[in-house]
This record gives sequence, C-alpha cells and structure tokens, in this order.
Amino acid sequence: MIDVLPFQPFAPAFRVALPYGLIAGIHLPSTSDPVAPPVLARLHPDERDYARSLGGFRQVQFVGGRLALGELLNELGLRRAAVVPNVHGAPELPPGFVASVSHKQDLAVALVARGHGVGIGVDLEDTDRNRPGVASRVLRAEEFAVVQGLAESRQWVDTVVRFSVKESVYKALHPFLLRYIGFGEVAVWPEPDGNDRVEPFLRPGEGPFRFEARHMWLGARVLSMVRVRPVATP
Ligand SMILES: CC(C)(COP(=O)(O)OP(=O)(O)OC[C@H]1O[C@@H](n2cnc3c(N)ncnc32)[C@H](O)[C@@H]1OP(=O)(O)O)[C@@H](O)C(=O)NCCC(=O)NCCS
Repeated sequence: MIDVLPFQPFAPAFRVALPYGLIAGIHLPSTSDPVAPPVLARLHPDERDYARSLGGFRQVQFVGGRLALGELLNELGLRRAAVVPNVHGAPELPPGFVASVSHKQDLAVALVARGHGVGIGVDLEDTDRNRPGVASRVLRAEEFAVVQGLAESRQWVDTVVRFSVKESVYKALHPFLLRYIGFGEVAVWPEPDGNDRVEPFLRPGEGPFRFEARHMWLGARVLSMVRVRPVATP
C-alpha cells in the first residue's frame, strides 16, 4: 500500500523502496499549458532543453518523469546526470544504474535501481474505463481463454494487470532485444499476492531471460514493475 501525499502540481506524490528499486511519483497538473520556468529550472539543463522541444501534455509528462527520476538519483547519492531519451525512447542512466518511467495525465512515476546487465520496467494503467477489444489485442489465446472464464466483474481488471505487466516487460526487455516486442511474445499469469509469472515466447536464439514481475494498486490504478536478467547458459 503506497500513501499518496496531497496534490500539488509537480510536487512529490510518494517515494518508496520496493523489491526492484526505488520508486517516486510526481503529481501532474490537469492542463496542457507550457510548464512554468521555475518548474523547468528543477531539471538538468539538457533535460530542460529537451522539455522545451515538447508541447502540451507530452511536455508536462516528460517533466514529471524527469522530476521523479531526479528525486531518486538524489536519494541514491548520484551526481545529477541528464536523463534524456536514447534513440529508442528509453531513459538511459549512467553505468551501474537502470531506470524506467510511466505517466498518466495526473501522475508520473519513475523506478530506479543499481545494477549491471539488468533491465527494469514500470507501468501505470487505469482500470476505471472498460475498453472492449483490448483483451483480444493484447492477450495470447490461452490468456484470453482464462480471462473469459473469470467472473465478468473480474475480466477487465485481470486484462489490465496483464496489459500493464506486458508494458513493463517491454520497457525492461527492449534494451536487450532492441526491437519491437509484440503483445503475443509474452504471457502474463497474475497472482493474487502480486508476484506475477511471465512466460516468454521470444524468437529462437533470444534469451533465455529470467523475468520477475509484480503488480500493486495505487487507488484504482495498476502499478506494475518488471525486472529482467539474461540467464547464463553453459
Ligand atoms: C513504449 C511503450 C511501452 C510506452 O508505454 P505507454 O503506456 O505508451 O506510456 P508510459 O507513459 O507508460 O511510458 C512512457 C515511457 O516509456 C519509456 N520508453 C519509451 N520507449 C522505451 C523503450 N524502447 N524502452 C524502455 N522504455 C521506453 C520512456 O521513458 C517514456 O517516457 P518518457 O519519454 O517521458 O521518458 C508503449 O508505447 C509501446 O510501444 N509498447 C509496445 C508494445 C508492447 O508493450 N509490447 C508488450 C510485449 S512485451
């Protein structure tokens, strides 16, 4: 259970240590107005330049994600480095650190950990609006069959948990594969305790990888986290 601080635009929402790293949330304003200079001033100059190249909600969300990353780097005692997106869009940290970012309209979250040869991913998804058609697009046939067998009231939430873990898998795994990874390339088996199982269906020669996945609740939202490591083969 994560306690969320009262809302103030671009102020911390929470900061907690979880098994795969430190996670921070930043409240975001509900408007797409340009981010005010005093807020931009809290970023590293290179991040500020990048933020100025963006507009609307994209700018707001990028700034929120970088403020969250900045807090965590500070907490880890790391000299504040710029974290601009690499050519694939992923946040790239100094050697020995890994990070991931996710945002919704009113909240940005970042997950940061120490580590070499490891990938992490974080994702935030809303559950309040049932969107028919998502399940058949993001689930493998065997996942879809299991979801269809659940009580109707559980089907959408179970789909969102699987979807969110898949998005986290993408962020954690993409740095190793450097290619688009389809939703059918992993199956996710959620567990009631939040320690979920990820079953990969990657291309021949890719991996093997060890996947660890968890999900928890942030109000009505799913917050998922994934850690991926290549497994040494004899
Ligand atoms: C890239 C993607 C995962 C982003 O997820 P999203 O729900 O659209 O958006 P979120 O707000 O959660 O995440 C956005 C953040 O993703 C991160 N991101 C983007 N591309 C990334 C990549 N290749 N690797 C790791 N992280 C990446 C960025 O940090 C970005 O935020 P920032 O630009 O402010 O730094 C998603 O758009 C996508 O393309 N998915 C591909 C298909 C997929 O998920 N397959 C799952 C099977 S494993």
